Amino acid sequence: MRVTMIGSGYVGLVSGACFADFGHDVVCVDKDQGKIDKLLAGVMPIFEPGLDELVARNVEAGRLRFTTDLPEGVREADAVFIAVGTPSRRGDGHADLSYVYAAAEEIGRALTGFTVIVDKSTVPVGTGDEVERIIREANLDADFAVASNPEFLREGAAIDDFKRPDRIVIGSDDARALAVLRNVYRPLYLNKSPIVEMSRRAAELTKYAGNAFLATKITFINEIADLCEKVGANVQDVARGIGLDGRIGDKFLHAGPGYGGSCFPKDTLALLKTAQDYEAPQRIVEAVVAVNDNRKRAMGRKVIAAMGGDVRGKCVAILGLTFKPNTDDMRDSPAIAVIQALQDAGATVRAYDPEGHEQAKKVLENVHYCDGAYQTMEGADALVILTEWNAFRALDFKRVKSLLSAPVIVDLRNIYHREQVEQAGFEYTAVGR
Ligand code: UDX
Repeated sequence: MRVTMIGSGYVGLVSGACFADFGHDVVCVDKDQGKIDKLLAGVMPIFEPGLDELVARNVEAGRLRFTTDLPEGVREADAVFIAVGTPSRRGDGHADLSYVYAAAEEIGRALTGFTVIVDKSTVPVGTGDEVERIIREANLDADFAVASNPEFLREGAAIDDFKRPDRIVIGSDDARALAVLRNVYRPLYLNKSPIVEMSRRAAELTKYAGNAFLATKITFINEIADLCEKVGANVQDVARGIGLDGRIGDKFLHAGPGYGGSCFPKDTLALLKTAQDYEAPQRIVEAVVAVNDNRKRAMGRKVIAAMGGDVRGKCVAILGLTFKPNTDDMRDSPAIAVIQALQDAGATVRAYDPEGHEQAKKVLENVHYCDGAYQTMEGADALVILTEWNAFRALDFKRVKSLLSAPVIVDLRNIYHREQVEQAGFEYTAVGR
C-alpha cells in the first residue's frame, strides 16, 4: 500500500514510521522545511524512545520518505492520513480546524485515482463531513472516501501503542475505504488486535469520549485522595481495592498533581464545546475540567503548607517538569502552575528535568535550571517531586539530607514509601496517604 501522512508531528511521524515498518511505502509530508530537513538528516524533531532507530531502519529500506511537496505525496497514494495539529482555539477552547481544512483542500486538488482520506487528527464530530465537502469543492471529479481513524498513542510509549494497540477504531461506511484500511492495518488484523469498525461520527466521538473518561478516572481518584488525607486512609490501598474489580480496572488510578499534556486538557474542552453545540451538556466532564484546573495550583499550596506555610525568601528544589516521564512535553504540565504558585508566594525555584528544560524555558520564567538531581537540592529548603522519572525513584537520601537546608520532601507522584523517607530523617508529604 502507498500511504501518505500529512503532518510530520508527533502522531504523523510515529504512525508513518510504524506503517513503513508494516512494509508499506510511506511518504511523510510537512510544510515546515526545517522539520523535513532535520528528518532527512536523521534528526528527530520530537523526543520519543525508539523513534530514531525505527525511522532510520525504514528510511534505509527505502520504505519511508520525507517531503514538503504535498501534491507529490498525495498523487500516487492509496490512503492519505491527515495528522496535522488541532490546537485549542484561543478564546472559546474549541478545536482549531484550520490546519485540517487547509490540508483537505490541498489534498483535494492533488487527488488522482481512488484515494481514502483518513482523519487521524483528533477532530470534533462532523469534521469528516466538512472535509468531504471541501475536497469535493476543490475537485469535482475526485474519486475518494473520507474515513476517521483516531489515534490512541501515549507519549513515551507511542510505538508500542501503535504496534500492540488495545484497539483500532475505523470509522467508515464505505466498502472501498474499508478494504483499503483493512490492508493498511493488515498486520494488526493478522495478529488479532481488536479492530472496531463503526460510522465516521461514532469514531470521531470515540476519541473524545475515551480521553474524557480517562481524565475523569484520574480526577476521581485525585478527589478520593483528598478525602483519604482527611480521614487518614491511604489512596493507594483504596485504588487497589477498587481497581481489582474488573468493571473498574486498576489503570489510571494513580493520584497525583492533576493531568496535563497535549490531549486530555484540550480534548475535554473540545468535547464540552461539541456538547454545547448539540445541546447535550456533559456535566461530569465540566466538573472534571474545573476540578483538575483547581488542583494544579492547589498542589502549590500543598508544598507551601509542607514548608511551614510561609515560603518568602525560601528556595524550593523541583525534580521533574514535564507532564509525565519519557517526554520533553511541557504542555499543561502541573509543574507550571505549582512553580508559579510558589514564586507568587515569594519562593525561588531550582529545577531539574532529564528532557524538559528547553520546553520549560519557554513557559516558566526565573527558574534556575540545574544539571542534575542532586545539584538542584544544594541549599534548598524543600525537595518536591513533580514528575515520576525513573531517575528520581532511588535517590540517595543521605546525600539528599546533606544537601538540603531543611529535611522536607513533598512527593506529588507517590513514588516513595513513607517509612523509608521518614526513617531517613525527613518530613514527608505525599498525595492521599
Ligand atoms: C493520552 C492518552 O492516554 C492517549 O490514549 C491519547 O491518545 C493522548 O492522551 P498522554 O497525554 O501521552 O496520552 O499521557 P497519559 O499517559 O495518558 O497521561 C496523561 C496525564 O495524566 C499525565 O499528566 C499523567 O501524569 C496523568 N495521569 C495518568 C495521572 O495523574 N494518573 C494516572 O493514573 C494516569
